[in-house]
Amino acid sequence: MGRVIAVANQKGGVGKTTTAINLAASFAAAEVNTLLIDCDPQSNASSGLGLVKDPERLSTYHLLLGEASGEQALSTTELEQLWIIPSHKNLIGANIELVEAERREYRLRDAIAPLRERFTYIVLDCPPALDLLTYQIHMPCPSNGEPLTAPTAAGAGAATGLGGCSACL
Ligand SMILES: Nc1ncnc2c1ncn2[C@@H]1O[C@H](COP(=O)(O)OP(=O)(O)OP(=O)(O)O)[C@@H](O)[C@H]1O
Ligand SMILES: [Mg+2]
Repeated sequence: MGRVIAVANQKGGVGKTTTAINLAASFAAAEVNTLLIDCDPQSNASSGLGLVKDPERLSTYHLLLGEASGEQALSTTELEQLWIIPSHKNLIGANIELVEAERREYRLRDAIAPLRERFTYIVLDCPPALDLLTYQIHMPCPSNGEPLTAPTAAGAGAATGLGGCSACL
């Protein structure tokens, strides 16, 4: 079962996306099948991997809303063993649209479960926030028994804000 790594910090501009892209690309360059999931409405991981904005493309938004399966939402990249589920700015709305949905905190975990046999590593690029979206992003980690979160800049609140995870690097 593939290992899920969330690169998270509620503080903005501390290097989450840079870390997520380079981590995922390094796994792929080492010939390990890797999936990067862009969970940030800013979509910087998607543009960083060369995906131009396309409102028609299936994204993390569709995944969370149950409008696409993980398999359907995959996009290829220039690296043979690196795939991405891109983001879109409409992901901002998911926080509100899912507010009354059942098991909303498990949506991402359930959606990527079928992909965890296929990918050795699944890297999640998180938004700089502590909202439902961020909470959902952390749910896949405990299911693997090995939560791994990497606040990439030290600072007041960085660790306490991510207290749901048992390992912070
Ligand atoms: N190790 C590093 N050394 C110096 N600059 C860095 C490093 N990592 C990232 N940066 C720079 O810091 C800026 C912010 O990086 P990045 O977009 O990865 O942060 P972020 O945490 O994802 O931001 P956001 O919270 O807005 O999503 C970028 O200009 C990036 O080039
Ligand atoms: Mg970012």
